[in-house]
Amino acid sequence: MTLRLTTAGESHGPALVAIVTGLPAGLVLDRGAIDGDLARRQEGYGRSPRQRIETDRVEVLAGLRHGRTLGTPLALVVRNRDHENWAWGMSPWPPEGEPAGKGTKAVTVPRPGHADLAGALKFGLDDVRDALERASARQTAAHVAAGSVAKQLLRELEVEVQGAVATDDLERRIDEARADRDTVGGVVEVRARGVPPGLGSYAAKDERLDARLAAAVMGIQAVKGVEIGTGFALADIRGSQAHDEILPGFTRETNRAGGIEAGVSNGEEIVVRAAMKPLPTLMRPLQTVDLETGEPAEALVERSDVAAVEALAVVAEAAVAFELARAAREKFGGDSLADFLAAHRAYLERIPWSRTR
Ligand SMILES: Cc1cc2nc3c(=O)[nH]c(=O)nc-3n(C[C@H](O)[C@H](O)[C@H](O)COP(=O)(O)O)c2cc1C
Repeated sequence: MTLRLTTAGESHGPALVAIVTGLPAGLVLDRGAIDGDLARRQEGYGRSPRQRIETDRVEVLAGLRHGRTLGTPLALVVRNRDHENWAWGMSPWPPEGEPAGKGTKAVTVPRPGHADLAGALKFGLDDVRDALERASARQTAAHVAAGSVAKQLLRELEVEVQGAVATDDLERRIDEARADRDTVGGVVEVRARGVPPGLGSYAAKDERLDARLAAAVMGIQAVKGVEIGTGFALADIRGSQAHDEILPGFTRETNRAGGIEAGVSNGEEIVVRAAMKPLPTLMRPLQTVDLETGEPAEALVERSDVAAVEALAVVAEAAVAFELARAAREKFGGDSLADFLAAHRAYLERIPWSRTR
């Protein structure tokens, strides 16, 4: 038994779609909590005016009846309200009538740092928009909706996942960058409390919880570094300073490992940090080459965020939650929520672990 997520959707297409399989039957979903997480993703200092157009709300097309999961694929939809401004340019079918609205002219000036050039070469595209529309982080709305469902499942296990910005003085850096028509990145941190020991495995590298969390977070647009616990700084300290001694009652006074040893959760708080690069769309564009003419050109300037670090905290929280929920589904199984919870309870009765952290 495992949890899986498939998403679809372009930034200015009709909608974003998430299909989650592997949920137990009988989980009561809170629609307001999902919409609340979607709203959190849209907030934050430095976002573009697009966020004022979109007021993301989840719609459920399948897998839920009267607010309870059926144990069948859960299909979630988040509509793109901005699509009406792109109805011709992003029409899924050949558009009718004269070109109107946005996205009607082919983009041929790839932005350094974005999907534009690599996508155009890979897929043989004349219009870079065919690459950037899917590469855009707008798709993270679908991931946040699915992550919100995962958090609701984890809450049944008394696991709480919370993302936050870890960069100081972020607003000042954003103001300065905006004045220079530039962009900035930053660092976010996700903490998960109440995760029992034993999620993930050292048996194979793709079962390691640290590897899975790193892949889930690195899979988010603009994330260029991920660390678990003390992470990179461990390379500069001695073993006597690095490892978390085991004390009577199997407790620890430190958590430099960030809650994972040998790819397995150890019962301490899980701590994952991610570094986000400065966003690639600049209002003062970088140099590029026009794909059509081969001549030097200025890169595409499109409505864009100056920073999206606060949004990343929400998206990374969703990614960590989904991966933890997936690991929990693998460990505790069960077709119904009751079976899942019973397996969890029986396991906690067997091991010497108390939920103090
Ligand atoms: C929440 C979020 C919002 C983003 N918003 C923008 C944006 O407005 N403009 C932009 O150029 N990049 C934005 N990005 C980053 C790009 O999507 C990303 O840099 C691009 O897809 C290339 O992928 P890479 O940076 O992982 O190599 C955003 C990323 C995230 C996570």
